[in-house]
Amino acid sequence: MEIRTVGVVGGGTMGAGMIQTLSHFGFSVLFKDIDEALVKKCLDHVIRIYTSALKKGKLTEGEMKKGISVIQGRTDYMGFDQTDLVIEAVPEDLEIKKRVFGELDDNLKPEAILASNTSALSITKLASFTQSKRRPYVIGMHWFNPAHVMRLMEVIPGLETSNEVTGCLIDFCLKLGKVPIQVKECAGFLVNRLLGIYMNEALYMVEEQQKPADIDQVALSLGMPMGPLTLGDMVGWDVIYHANRTLYEEYGSRFTLPRILGHMVEEGRFGVKVGKGIYAYEKTPEGAPRKIGAVESLPNEGLLKELSERLLLVWINEGIRCLDEGVAKPDDIDQALQLGAGMPKGPLTWADDLGLDVVLSGLEQWRKRLGDRFWPSPFLRRKVNAGHLGKKSGMGFFS
Ligand code: 3HC
Repeated sequence: MEIRTVGVVGGGTMGAGMIQTLSHFGFSVLFKDIDEALVKKCLDHVIRIYTSALKKGKLTEGEMKKGISVIQGRTDYMGFDQTDLVIEAVPEDLEIKKRVFGELDDNLKPEAILASNTSALSITKLASFTQSKRRPYVIGMHWFNPAHVMRLMEVIPGLETSNEVTGCLIDFCLKLGKVPIQVKECAGFLVNRLLGIYMNEALYMVEEQQKPADIDQVALSLGMPMGPLTLGDMVGWDVIYHANRTLYEEYGSRFTLPRILGHMVEEGRFGVKVGKGIYAYEKTPEGAPRKIGAVESLPNEGLLKELSERLLLVWINEGIRCLDEGVAKPDDIDQALQLGAGMPKGPLTWADDLGLDVVLSGLEQWRKRLGDRFWPSPFLRRKVNAGHLGKKSGMGFFS
């Protein structure tokens, strides 16, 4: 199996980042969107990414021209029968995905790999929208926003995906300069499970009338690359709403959706792409988003400590649950969060540094105050019972 020509279906924010990456690494890209205006919008976005990279000295003008020349945008599937891999990047709506998977099944050659960039949906379910002989070729290929920047690629085989297809996709990710991490299929896979519960917590804080800029500052002071609310504006609250709803449907009440998330989506406050989300945005002359409004002062120290504890603990706890469920290996869990979400360290190392007993008692205290979303992972309790307290005892999630 060799991948030379790639198709992308859906030229939104993620699609454009993928197309730029694929073309830059020498692969011919055929992409499809639903009308000419969206095809043009996507191409303009790809050119903007190339131009920004050129200005930053990351590539030459010749490389940019060559990259752009191998991209072709269409509104139909003509030529898709020549592609070796197709990446589906359409909105996170099961009915839309079902239609697109059916269309792709009809239009691709039998041995083409059909990969989905779904944020949280089941790969096995998506594969069921194709005929049984296609199913071994269906796989999850989960990119992270900005798709041309973040190095992680989650590779998620469904129940019927063949080992050969998984291996081939992993090799392909390496050719794109990405770090592929194989993740066991579960709703939200690995990184979006942790980010989902973390983003929900930040939104609960907004509902409690904490200032958004303060919440973001708390995350920055923990070493996160951007605050959770700025991140939500960048990713798109519509995308987060769909992903987090899937997490709620699968895992239940600890992923209860903050009401404000539904309200923002109803009001069309999707974030940067529409100029308003939690914050408001204007465009620089180069087309990059710029936040309007000053960053406010830090809250007092007591409040800062409480907010940062909450933001950290929900996310670490979910990482421990993933470890317990065998979603990925300990090193992979930590590396995935660093490369996929820019976290300064992964949840397991963070727990080892803080002390597992400290994490457990913190979760118990917050559970009493704010409810069961802070329910400690049973595996964390077992580790503490065994005296595996992290760095201070020489053994935690790592030794
Ligand atoms: N909104 C939109 N775009 C932004 C942005 C923002 N708030 N901040 C930065 N960017 C863009 C820049 O415009 C730039 O684009 P370019 O490459 O086309 O010029 C690009 O990000 C890189 O910016 P910089 O070179 O200035 O790099 P920084 O040092 O500022 O880092 C970052 C930016 C890489 C985005 C860093 O802040 C980071 O790692 N943030 C965390 C991102 C993250 O968590 N991503 C995963 C989200 S979850 C996901 O995608 C899964 C999906 O299924 C939902």
